[in-house]
Amino acid sequence: MPMPSDQPVQKKPEPCSFVIFGATGDLAHRLVIPALYNLAATGLLPDKFCVVGITRKTMSNETLRDSLMKGLLEFATRPVDDATAQRLLNCVTCIAADPGEPASFDRLKIQLDDLESIRQTGGNRLFYLATPPDAFAPIARELGRTGMLSQQGGAWRRLVIEKPFGTDLASAHALNGELLKIVDEHQIYRIDHYLGKETVQNILVLRFANGMFEPIWNRNHIDHVQITVDEKLDVGHRGGFYDSTGALRDMVPNHLFQLLSLVAMEPPIRFDAHSVRAEKADVLAAIQTQSESEALRNSVRGQYQAGKIDNVEIGDYRSTGEVRPGSTTETYAALKLTIDNWRWAGVPFYLRTGKALGVKRTEVAIKFKQAPFAMFSCTPVETLAQNYLVISVAPTEGIALQFNTKVPGPAIRIDGVEMKFRYKDYFKAEPSTGYETLLHDCMIGDNILFQRADSVEAGWKAVQPFLDAWKKAGANGLLSYTAGSEGPAEANTLLTRDGRSWRKLD
Ligand SMILES: NC(=O)c1ccc[n+]([C@@H]2O[C@H](COP(=O)([O-])OP(=O)(O)OC[C@H]3O[C@@H](n4cnc5c(N)ncnc54)[C@H](OP(=O)(O)O)[C@@H]3O)[C@@H](O)[C@H]2O)c1
Repeated sequence: MPMPSDQPVQKKPEPCSFVIFGATGDLAHRLVIPALYNLAATGLLPDKFCVVGITRKTMSNETLRDSLMKGLLEFATRPVDDATAQRLLNCVTCIAADPGEPASFDRLKIQLDDLESIRQTGGNRLFYLATPPDAFAPIARELGRTGMLSQQGGAWRRLVIEKPFGTDLASAHALNGELLKIVDEHQIYRIDHYLGKETVQNILVLRFANGMFEPIWNRNHIDHVQITVDEKLDVGHRGGFYDSTGALRDMVPNHLFQLLSLVAMEPPIRFDAHSVRAEKADVLAAIQTQSESEALRNSVRGQYQAGKIDNVEIGDYRSTGEVRPGSTTETYAALKLTIDNWRWAGVPFYLRTGKALGVKRTEVAIKFKQAPFAMFSCTPVETLAQNYLVISVAPTEGIALQFNTKVPGPAIRIDGVEMKFRYKDYFKAEPSTGYETLLHDCMIGDNILFQRADSVEAGWKAVQPFLDAWKKAGANGLLSYTAGSEGPAEANTLLTRDGRSWRKLD
């Protein structure tokens, strides 16, 4: 089997401080520190480096280090080497700062300056806000007020935030406005961890490093596109968060739109952050804004009821802790969208996502048009297998092409087959959290994989009619589905009325 040539050596970041607000939280323990550990283990942290964990209440370095070590042992994606872990944790200093107490940020500024002169990090700072989203603007305001985000004397200052970037168009616009009063767009790194996944990044390479796909990547050859992010997981302990969010807000304007924009964008003129992000923003802005009645017609929403997944009993969504009685929050959403440009006019994009489903699957399926007529005797066009290109993101990462072939034998009989590429067959992947690439990119200043303010707002603009229409409709039109099923049966109607069907997930 052909193996890839050695990869180019990745760039080591310049000296810097990695300042984590919310260092006691789940994200810091589950993902950020394990990702920094993986970067340390592969020699991709700066030689001069410090991690500053910010907590609102004073905590000793030892207490924070012990807690992060416990998190690392629980969530690491590779065996933890004690020496590497200690080297990383020895870089951790805990400093107390609370955005509700401005004086604490004045103290933080002085403490950071002192620490950085000892660690010789040259004033380069990355502020990672691993806090609830309502703390983003207050923290950024304090960092701005105290001058900690000002780039002076050649040192860089960057602000990293994790989705959600707002809860609707108005709040996303307000958050962007707040942040852009304090920092320039190029200093903001809006993380969508989907973009840390190899297969997602590979969509760009598949489309633009191969001459054979682009000529057929348009309305002349593509019938429609299906984007699926189905989860087996139920809402679990996150009832409070989920009930005020729902499947649409949680997944569509971020993860599903990342996949959509990579599949549908125009070729960028070069592979740099400005060109790639401009094309992604353009295609999101070209998603047709639907009226509320169109949104109702072009969507299906559902909520799961008790069922079984892998032989485990799952309770009703409404019985989840912290979910409001009679909640109308959707745990499943399917939408039909169209993109108003020359490439995609008339090509529907069907999106579906849900929790507590029978299959875990993230994929983009591109359905090509049928052969225009059946020239083989006894082969009506309807019986030909569907021509799909399937980009599979989870649980396996790979690409499959489905096409028709002749069944061996004297008669012409036709059957559908699949040509499959799986990442793990060709490449030995380093075990990863999916955050390593993104954190490394933040440190080297490459924001190609991060969302720009206009993309975020274009995404919310496209989903806003659905949010508004569903809010007004309340329980009307909210369907139910059994946990462990494929979702509400009515989701099929979105496609069957157009003479299409969802790809069967196995
Ligand atoms: N957890 C995940 O897997 C995950 C995945 C994707 C995205 N996210 C996003 O990442 C962010 C953090 O998530 P999380 O699960 O880690 O949240 P979390 O555990 O609820 O909170 C993180 C920490 O933020 C600090 N904090 C809380 N309120 C604050 C405030 N008003 N001002 C300053 N600090 C405050 C708290 O630390 P102190 O009390 O010590 O100050 C808390 O431990 C959220 O925006 C979330 O949506 C999380």
